Order: sequence, then structure tokens, then C-alpha cells
Amino acid sequence: MNLLLEALIYALPIFIANSSATLTLSIPYYKDWSSPIDFGKSINGKRILGNGKTFRGLIFGTLCATLSGLTQYFFLNNFDYEYLDYNDKSLTFFLLSSFLLGFGALLGDLIKSFFKRRIGITRGKPWPPFDQLDFLTGAILLNLLIFVPDFKIILILYIITPLGHLLSNIIAYKLKLKNVWW
Ligand code: CTP
Ligand code: MG
Repeated sequence: MNLLLEALIYALPIFIANSSATLTLSIPYYKDWSSPIDFGKSINGKRILGNGKTFRGLIFGTLCATLSGLTQYFFLNNFDYEYLDYNDKSLTFFLLSSFLLGFGALLGDLIKSFFKRRIGITRGKPWPPFDQLDFLTGAILLNLLIFVPDFKIILILYIITPLGHLLSNIIAYKLKLKNVWW
């Protein structure tokens, strides 16, 4: 398999976590869960995290990402690969791995929002390149607990993620899932 494809398989739970957290906006059932993680609290007049970081997004995003581990399990047990050198290819491993990727992604996103608020950028306003790379960094770091990817995988993800993020935001905007195109 080629590098790009392997990078995408590795990063699938990361992208799923990020996009499914955004999609929870449009699931009516989850509206009751939409309590912000900072419970609306502020420090020095600025929100700790802001209304864009909800328990609903965190829980649903982590859950969807974890489930996407099934796809990783299937691909990595049925195809040859060059760069993804997993020793353990059990279902348990891939569910744990994708949980760490998904939870790490959303944690990275939370930490980004914390600093974004501290410097006075309000919820939803752009803060490039951190908005694009926060979740990737959080996910890879947390997943390092159980897997160290080839450096080339990491490199290519840092190149394609900002592009993919922009593209998916434009699509989400066109579908009226987001209010702004960035
Ligand atoms: N979302 C959520 N819970 C999370 C992460 C995201 O509910 N933990 C939802 C929110 O509806 C959010 C949307 O996904 O508005 C898009 O996420 P993101 O771009 O990360 O949030 P922003 O609204 O841009 O907020 P911030 O400025 O803090 O990044
Ligand atoms: Mg944003």
C-alpha cells in the first residue's frame, strides 16, 4: 500500500472524531446534552473553553472514533502495508488505539480552545494553523502510549490535514452544518 493510503487509515479515527463532534449539532436527540464542558464559566471575563466545546461533541466524537477502529482492524489484517508496523493486530488493540486517537483529538481541540480564549479570540473565529492541527497533534500524542508511527506518516498528515479540514469545512458550510466556511 502507499504512504498516503496508510496515513489515511492510521488517521481515520482522528478525522471521524473531529467531524462527528461537529455533526452532533444537527442531531436533535443530543440537544439536551449540549451543556458546554466549561459549564459557561469564565476566567477574567473570558470563557474557559466556550460554547463550541460540549460534552455531547466529546462523547459522541470519541464513541464514533472508537467504532471506526473496526475499519482499521479490517484493513490492517487483510492488506499488505509498508509503513504501519503494528505488532498487535487484534480487535481489542485497534479499538483501544482508535479510542486514544479520537479522545486525544478532542482533547487537543479543547486545549487549543482554552488558549484561543485566553488570547481573546471568541468561539468559532479562525486561529490558523492551530484550528487545523490541534486535533491531529492531540491524537498522535495520546496514541504514542501504544503506537509510534513512521515519521513519514506523521509528516504527510501534517501536510494533508489542514487541506482536508478546509475542504470539509467548506462542505459543512454548504450543507448548512456550519455557519462559517473556515
Ligand atoms: N463541538 C462540540 N464539542 C466538542 C467539539 C466540537 O460540540 N468537544 C461542535 C460545536 O458545535 C462546534 C463544532 O463542533 O461549534 C465545530 O468545532 P470547532 O471548530 O472545534 O469549534 P468552534 O465552534 O470553532 O470553537 P473554537 O473557537 O473554540 O475552536
Ligand atoms: Mg472552529
